[in-house]
Amino acid sequence: MEILTTVNDLREAIRARRSYFKRIGFVPTMGYLHAGHEALMRKAKEECDLVVVSIFVNPTQFGPAEDLEKYPRDLRRDSDLCERAGVDAIFHPEARDMYPIGSSTWVDVEGLTDIACGASRPGHFRGVCTVCTKLFNIVRPDRAYFGEKDFQQLMVIKRMARDLFMPLAIVGVPTVREPDGLAMSSRNSYLSLRERQAARIVPKTLQLARERVEGGEHNSATIITAIEELVAAQPLVKLQYAVIVDPDTMTSMRTLTHEARLLVAIYVGNTRLIDNCALVPKAVAPPA
Ligand code: PAF
Repeated sequence: MEILTTVNDLREAIRARRSYFKRIGFVPTMGYLHAGHEALMRKAKEECDLVVVSIFVNPTQFGPAEDLEKYPRDLRRDSDLCERAGVDAIFHPEARDMYPIGSSTWVDVEGLTDIACGASRPGHFRGVCTVCTKLFNIVRPDRAYFGEKDFQQLMVIKRMARDLFMPLAIVGVPTVREPDGLAMSSRNSYLSLRERQAARIVPKTLQLARERVEGGEHNSATIITAIEELVAAQPLVKLQYAVIVDPDTMTSMRTLTHEARLLVAIYVGNTRLIDNCALVPKAVAPPA
């Protein structure tokens, strides 16, 4: 496995292999890798002949008051995990290589980014889309792999790739969870022991919503109120948002007429965790 740090070195390494490796798989990450990332790499390995992973904490997707500086980093540990997962090359650039002085081009997906993380983290998806476009242009993969844990990100990247005729498939991979249901996230490493216990509320909100929908509830406001009450009753946690959206348009659904997606963001202490799940309503009987 090679670790390449410049755009030119990565391009050269891939150019030399492109003719005999038919399908190139790409897993973009910000590092501090965990079993969720490993699942992306293993899926890429299954479906592609050459797998490239990028490890780059992208400054442009962090707001001024967010955790860019303290975002966890450990290249040694990450490269061991990549090696075990059968990755062929790691791309680990510097910010000055990804954003050379004078860079002034941005990629913005409208509409899908008006809600949830797009609303609570202004500029976040512009940073994500811009860096992913750059990475796709450098690696030129056939397939790129994204976790469903960041469901809105997955939908936004799919839309961007479609709208800009990017010649690659965007593949979503199911969320990997801890035994108690908490979704794997690099940010889980910020949690103290007490906070880690409290974080169990995050998957519980999804479970509550699924149970309500299985019980026949179709009204989004009722489900959201139940989530708000559940979170409000717990110490150490604060709901940032809970929204029920149409997965294709990312617009709010007042009534569950078809499969919807619940998206939640919850602060556990100072750590912001996100999660989501599908909500599949029971069929509504047609009027007699
Ligand atoms: O999901 C992430 O880790 C990041 O948003 C991504 C896709 C690597 C872009 O920086």
